[in-house]
Amino acid sequence: MLKDRTEGGVIYFDNAATSFPKPQCVSEAVMHYMTKIGANPGRSGHKMSVEAGRIVFKARKSIAALFGLRNPMRVIFTSNATEALNMAILGVLEKGDHAITSSMEHNSTIRPLHEMEKKGIISLSIIQADKTGILDPDKIRKAIRANTKAIIINHASNVVGCIQPIREIGKICRENGVIFIVDCAQSAGIVPIDIDQDNIDILAFAGHKALYGPTGTGGMVIADRFDFKRIKPLKYGGTGSLSDKIEQPDFLPDRFESGTLNVAGLSGLLAGSEYIRHRDGGIERILEHKTELQKYFIQKAEMLVEDFCCFSSAQLPSTGVVAFKLNKFSVSEIAQILSDEYGIMCRQGLHCSPLAHQTIGTFPEGTLRFGFSIFNNKEEIDFAVQALKSISEGKQT
Ligand SMILES: Cc1ncc(COP(=O)(O)O)c(C=O)c1O
Repeated sequence: MLKDRTEGGVIYFDNAATSFPKPQCVSEAVMHYMTKIGANPGRSGHKMSVEAGRIVFKARKSIAALFGLRNPMRVIFTSNATEALNMAILGVLEKGDHAITSSMEHNSTIRPLHEMEKKGIISLSIIQADKTGILDPDKIRKAIRANTKAIIINHASNVVGCIQPIREIGKICRENGVIFIVDCAQSAGIVPIDIDQDNIDILAFAGHKALYGPTGTGGMVIADRFDFKRIKPLKYGGTGSLSDKIEQPDFLPDRFESGTLNVAGLSGLLAGSEYIRHRDGGIERILEHKTELQKYFIQKAEMLVEDFCCFSSAQLPSTGVVAFKLNKFSVSEIAQILSDEYGIMCRQGLHCSPLAHQTIGTFPEGTLRFGFSIFNNKEEIDFAVQALKSISEGKQT
């Protein structure tokens, strides 16, 4: 029997979009803020505002610890990874700069870059990954020009779950004085990350995926050694600091954090981040678990489902994101049947990553995507494989 984890008893495999369920401590933390604290942090001197500020600071500290950052003030909260990537990309690149990215990127990276290129502000090189989605650092090295300002790539693919050799790519950036911006939307909370050792200058993360925070959370993290004044703010406005001045504060985090923060969300993100950091075996064990589930699913489906066609690896460490198809059916048909008849939630299509699907050869239809979380298990995968087998044999209920 499947474990009935939610009232509807669904199997949730759409964790690469956003994770569900969240650990109970996350909902409790949100509720605690909503019912007991409620105030605006950093704006007033009363007890409730001070307490709200304390939660935000603890969340900064927890995220800093997660990425090996020494100064928590270098954690800038945003509403998602997209906002953080826009902040980094639009904040760093200037007229005449050259930027390098890859064919595996999410639209949250490709679109701001493409927009800047279209307006004639920057020139852009898109490095082609191989069929499995992996980038060759040497190709990146060769693309560097005298005016290359930044390299922007994702740490882990939201399409196939592969993990890029970021430490090596970061080393190339350091050797060439190029800013290294890494999209960790899919890796934060799954793959161990050390912002310094991995040679990252600016890191973007999503709070609502593998950190198990609520939707509407994310952030931009600036390495301790990186001169943050090289990033122009995207937003200007009230920060609760230097209220007598009409100039935007030039210290952190206020330079980049105008407007009231999502404190309810950050309360949950703090709980989620602490839950992950102190979980048995740490992040290393989470990566093992995800890799194990990915391998188990692929091997079992390849054995039992005749027309199963997979684009993710069963061999390499991965974030537990599997792209696949059943050759006889459209991906939307299968996703609908999985949801309606088997209670299995997954995502189909292009996953906001058209270039990645071109790279793995699945454009324009895209694929189905299962994204496993720490709460998924082999029993659920067995059920899903049986469901796919029945669909493939035309025997669905
Ligand atoms: C690799 C990657 N980058 C960026 C994003 C954008 O994240 P968010 O939805 O938090 O803006 C996603 C979302 O799926 C993603 O998978």
